[in-house]
Amino acid sequence: MIEIRQLTGDDWAIYRDVRLAALTDAPYAFASTVEREAAFDEWQWRAQLDRATWFVALDGAPVGLVGGFAEEDSADLHLIGMWVRGEVRGRGVAAGLVDGFLTWAKGQRPAGVVLWVADGNDRAQAFYRRYGFGPTGHRQPLPSNPNVGEEKWRLPLG
Ligand SMILES: CC(C)(COP(=O)(O)OP(=O)(O)OC[C@H]1O[C@@H](n2cnc3c(N)ncnc32)[C@H](O)[C@@H]1OP(=O)(O)O)[C@@H](O)C(=O)NCCC(=O)NCCS
Repeated sequence: MIEIRQLTGDDWAIYRDVRLAALTDAPYAFASTVEREAAFDEWQWRAQLDRATWFVALDGAPVGLVGGFAEEDSADLHLIGMWVRGEVRGRGVAAGLVDGFLTWAKGQRPAGVVLWVADGNDRAQAFYRRYGFGPTGHRQPLPSNPNVGEEKWRLPLG
């Protein structure tokens, strides 16, 4: 049974471990890099945790992560850091995380939810499409690898 739990500031070590696992496993998917974040100290991890509201999927140990924060100068919320451990992909963990995220998000009454997804990350794109996210045409280089592009996708919330 997978549990979805919202992290608090004192969960910084759980956040660190799952975030570093995500960056190690799927460097093609994220704006940041494991080289950058592995050097963080406790206070930097706490600051990262404070930047957003984070949800972890627990199957005993953490197996997935997603975060969200309010975009500045926008009525949208931003979904970040989505990751599920390879061994448990395709088993509904990602859906549990996004359902938990959306329950929290809807409480903030945003106009929509936006996220950046890299070109070629077909599995993530298929997953987001299932929820009604779609491309906006707003593009930029992937900050961790500017040779690859990424696009902002959006889910309007009525
Ligand atoms: C993105 C992620 C969280 C989705 O979780 P998941 O458990 O893989 O998601 P699901 O299996 O429920 O859904 C994936 C979808 O992609 C499809 N898919 C699987 N492999 C695929 C591939 N190689 N190419 C295209 N689609 C693929 C699946 O069929 C499924 O679509 P469907 O429900 O319409 O059949 C997970 O794959 C992951 O952690 N990836 C690495 C990190 C990442 O890319 N994060 C996103 C950052 S924007």
